[in-house]
Amino acid sequence: MSRVVVTGGAGRLGRSLVGGLVAAGHRVVSFDRAVSDAPELQGADQLAIDLLDAEATVTALRAQRATAVIHLAAIAVPFSAPEDVIMRTNAALAVSVLGGAVAAGVSRIVAASSPTVLGYGAPRGWVPDRFPLDEDTPPRPWNSYALSKLVIEQTVRMLHRQTGDAVRFAAFRPCYVIAPEEWRGALTQQGHTVRERLDDPGLAAPALFNYVDARDVASFADALLAALPTIPNAETFFVGADDALARRPLAELIPRFHPGTEEVAAVLTGTTPAFSNEKARRLLDWAPRHSWRDALTEEHSLSDTRKDVPA
Ligand SMILES: NC(=O)c1ccc[n+]([C@@H]2O[C@H](COP(=O)([O-])OP(=O)(O)OC[C@H]3O[C@@H](n4cnc5c(N)ncnc54)[C@H](O)[C@@H]3O)[C@@H](O)[C@H]2O)c1
Repeated sequence: MSRVVVTGGAGRLGRSLVGGLVAAGHRVVSFDRAVSDAPELQGADQLAIDLLDAEATVTALRAQRATAVIHLAAIAVPFSAPEDVIMRTNAALAVSVLGGAVAAGVSRIVAASSPTVLGYGAPRGWVPDRFPLDEDTPPRPWNSYALSKLVIEQTVRMLHRQTGDAVRFAAFRPCYVIAPEEWRGALTQQGHTVRERLDDPGLAAPALFNYVDARDVASFADALLAALPTIPNAETFFVGADDALARRPLAELIPRFHPGTEEVAAVLTGTTPAFSNEKARRLLDWAPRHSWRDALTEEHSLSDTRKDVPA
C-alpha cells in the first residue's frame, strides 16, 4: 500500500486533502509544524517537524518509507510576511522537501503552486493574450509569493532533469480553496465569508473569481497519484471549479476590475470561469464535483431547516 506524506497537512487545504486521500484508501502522514485535532486528520498519522530543516526532513521521509509526497507547506498568502521572508521560506521549503524526497527514494513527488504565477492584479495592469487562462499562459509573477511558486514549479523541473523518469513529478495550481466549513460561514483565506465574496465582486476580482472546493483538490490529488506513472512527467495543472465564483458573467465583471480586458474577456459568457481545467480532465480523467451554486444552496436550506426546529 502506498504511504503518502502530505506536507502542510494541518493547513486549510491540507486537512481536506489528507481526509480525502485517507477516504480513498491511502495511508497518509501529515508533516507539519502543527499537530491538528481536525476530524479530517483522524485517519492519518501526524509528525511535528520544521521542514526548513533539510536534514531532519530527509531523515523523516526515509523513516516513513514514503512512496509519494504532496508538498503543500508554505507561506500561503501573498504579502502575509515581508517579501524576502516569503521568497526565502517558500523556495527553501521546496528544495528541502522536494529535494529531500528525491534523496529519500520517493518515486512520486507533487508540489502545490498557485495560479498567481500568471501575474494578474499587477499594479501596473495585466491583460492576458486570451481567456480562458490555461497551462500555456505565460507566467508573469509580480510579487514574492507568486515568484516563489514559480520557483517551486521550476524546482520540480530541475529535479526531473536530475532523475529522468525514474521519479515521477507534477505541480498543480489550485484556485482559491474553499474548505467544507467555509460553505457554512467560516472565514475564507482572505478573512471574509463566501457569501461576502459573492455579494461584493471587488473581493473576488483580484483572483479573477477563481475557486475550487478543497474536496475536489483531494480527488484531483488521488487521480494524479494514480496517473503519474503513465502521464508525461513534470507537468503543471490548474485545479479549478467548472464555474466562476460570481453572480454575473465574467465577460462583464473582469473588465470592470481589470482595465483593458474587454475584448479578451468577451468569451467568458454565462458561468464560464477564467481558468480552464481541461488539462486535468484530459490527462487525469478528473472533474470537479462541487459548485458554489449547490454548496451554498444546500447549506442555506440546512440552516433554514434548523431555524424551524424549536430550541
Ligand atoms: N488556500 C488557497 O486558496 C491556495 C491557493 C493556491 C495555492 N495554495 C497553496 O496550497 C498550499 C496550502 O495552502 P493552505 O491554504 O492550506 O495554507 P495554510 O497556511 O493553511 O497551511 C500551510 C501549512 O504549512 C505549514 N508549514 C508552513 N511552514 C512550515 C514549516 N517550515 N515546517 C512545517 N510546516 C510548515 C503550516 O503549519 C500550515 O499548517 C500552499 O502551498 C499554498 O501556497 C493555496
